[in-house]
Amino acid sequence: MPKVTFIPAGQSFEVAAGTTILVSAIRNGLQLRHDCTEAICGTDRVKVLSGKERLSEKTETEELTLEMMNAGPDDRLGCVARILGDVAVELPD
Ligand code: FES
Repeated sequence: MPKVTFIPAGQSFEVAAGTTILVSAIRNGLQLRHDCTEAICGTDRVKVLSGKERLSEKTETEELTLEMMNAGPDDRLGCVARILGDVAVELPD
């Protein structure tokens, strides 16, 4: 099973492949604000520290939202980015 590590908590969890970053954080007791869960609001932007190639491809909506937010190349939206292999993700404060 893929492993996700959350920074700054420094905790790692095994998750079923295909689980979103948002769901894996919440299921493991970590907070990640999320207002829409449809890649529109951008509140759950996270920074991928390693393994970004092991996340699902960005949807068109996620691409557009990140672009409007002037997000960096390693930023993803937790509600739609699915974990396919080991990744490390930085959650916002
Ligand atoms: S919760 Fe709105 S973009 Fe993810």
